[in-house]
Amino acid sequence: MQVFKTRESIYNHLQDLKKQQKTIGFVPTMGALHEGHRTLLQKSYAENDITVCSIFVNPLQFNNTEDLDKYPRTIETDMAFIDSCCDILFYPDYSEIYPDTPNETFEFGNLETNLEGAFRPGHFYGVAVVVHRLFNIVNPDKAYFGLKDFQQLQIIKSLVEQKNHAIEIIPCEIIRESDGLAMSSRNKRLLDSERKLAPIIYQTLKQAADILKNKSVEESKMFVKNTFEKHKEFSLEYFEWVEPNSFEITNVQKPLTVGLIAIWLGKVRLIDNIIVTQ
Ligand code: PAF
Repeated sequence: MQVFKTRESIYNHLQDLKKQQKTIGFVPTMGALHEGHRTLLQKSYAENDITVCSIFVNPLQFNNTEDLDKYPRTIETDMAFIDSCCDILFYPDYSEIYPDTPNETFEFGNLETNLEGAFRPGHFYGVAVVVHRLFNIVNPDKAYFGLKDFQQLQIIKSLVEQKNHAIEIIPCEIIRESDGLAMSSRNKRLLDSERKLAPIIYQTLKQAADILKNKSVEESKMFVKNTFEKHKEFSLEYFEWVEPNSFEITNVQKPLTVGLIAIWLGKVRLIDNIIVTQ
């Protein structure tokens, strides 16, 4: 795996590869890599001539400085972990991505104001700026994103449309631990006792999906609220059903409905989701 630290060096190298008709797959990350990331890289590795991974903890998308400070930074382990499924790593310093103050503009509508957008003001602006800049540096043919960050995925699709990036966005299924917990770099911060409780999140989502199918949106939401009230370690931030394209919160089941949850477990904020088709 080759490592590039500067925009210019990786841009020039990838342009040369493109001239040789090589296809480029891209997996942007913030490091602290786990099996979920590796699955994205393996998919890219199988589908493209060259696979590029970026590791950059993007301060612009953190609305909480404690979260930014505590974000795990494990570059050596990360590099060993992805060596067999990645050709090129881009590992830039802050000044390479932000030589100037960001002034990009986007129009995300509901995607920016609902759910994650409401609870993490400025988060998606930060994600959109960094991904837009990374896309301009890497110019991939395909870019891979996990469905766990469902709202982020919709933001990226909208970004690609708004900024006319000629990039195919490939959504990839959520990778879970054997007990159902969605893989996340934040899981490392759970205490042992919290980690044991964490599978309740996905179990509850699956039960809520059954209630949605057989009963109503209201009853499924009440079930989720009541379940987490029983465990003092959890603090529910939101659970809503949305129609994925409009990202409108819905009170009735649509042909395609996504249930999205954000919940604190101790000091760690976790997100997950479930897709329900009629
Ligand atoms: O999902 C992430 O890890 C980040 O939000 C991303 C897409 C790499 C942008 O910093």
